[in-house]
Amino acid sequence: MKHLIDIKDLSVKEIDDLIEVAKDIINHRDNYSHKCDGKKLATLFFEPSTRTRLSFEAAMMELGGNVLGFSEASSSSVSKGETVADTIQVVGCYADIIAMRHPKEGAPYVASVKSTVPIINAGDGGHNHPTQTLTDLLTIKCEKGRLDNLTIGLCGDLKFGRTVHSLITAMARYNNIKIVLISPDELKLPEYVKKEVLEKNNIEYVETKDIEEYMSELDILYMTRVQKERFFNEADYIRLKDYYILNKDKLKVAKNDLCIMHPLPRVNEISTDVDDDPRACYFKQANYGKYIRMALILKLLEVK
Ligand code: CP
Repeated sequence: MKHLIDIKDLSVKEIDDLIEVAKDIINHRDNYSHKCDGKKLATLFFEPSTRTRLSFEAAMMELGGNVLGFSEASSSSVSKGETVADTIQVVGCYADIIAMRHPKEGAPYVASVKSTVPIINAGDGGHNHPTQTLTDLLTIKCEKGRLDNLTIGLCGDLKFGRTVHSLITAMARYNNIKIVLISPDELKLPEYVKKEVLEKNNIEYVETKDIEEYMSELDILYMTRVQKERFFNEADYIRLKDYYILNKDKLKVAKNDLCIMHPLPRVNEISTDVDDDPRACYFKQANYGKYIRMALILKLLEVK
């Protein structure tokens, strides 16, 4: 049985295969509408979500399956003191596959050790978000036509932004990738990601505080929100939350085929005047998320 806890659980070939299946689903949706008849997906969300939970649920429904679950810990027996390990063993009696989000790093891994059905990490604390990364890779492949030869700017909260950590880990396995890390000093990419991922794989990278410094060189600009829920001190959050606000003016020097991405939710970091720019891809990105999750469910349930 296979789980998806970290994007590294998938080989490059497996990721490329998932992307091809997702593209086929987009083009031939009817062919997939009964693939999961009689199957059940449980969504166990111990942290808030809109896109991840609902796109997983929509994905399973579009495959003909059913969904069950909870959207906050307070409505589950965790609020009475039940452990993740016990919860997972019980939910495995009711569902064929589980997507789980949890504020504690490593909780989905703990769940996978105890589970009798496949576990998908739908985000664990500030650590990883592998299905967002699959969404991002499908977006890049569809919008840019390639996953190699790209200069990618990552902007905002690179410290707590789990989507950034997973995306860098995935992109480091493709050829000729250059990374521009754009953040204030307090929200820089953690040293372990720089050392274990970027430096180990000889990925060229630079760090800057200035969103405009490398704008003209970027193929992709990946904006992120400052992760309020991970701050210990509200004053620090208030000081940093509006550090970057991407607007039309800042995009004047950008390439015509720049792809502007954001895992969403957005707070202030992209001005709404950017939304009608043809380079804004973040709402398309949310839509791609459903198709790649359909492909992932098929793979983990071993549906041909
Ligand atoms: N991108 C993302 O994970 O969004 P949600 O928190 O709404 O699921």
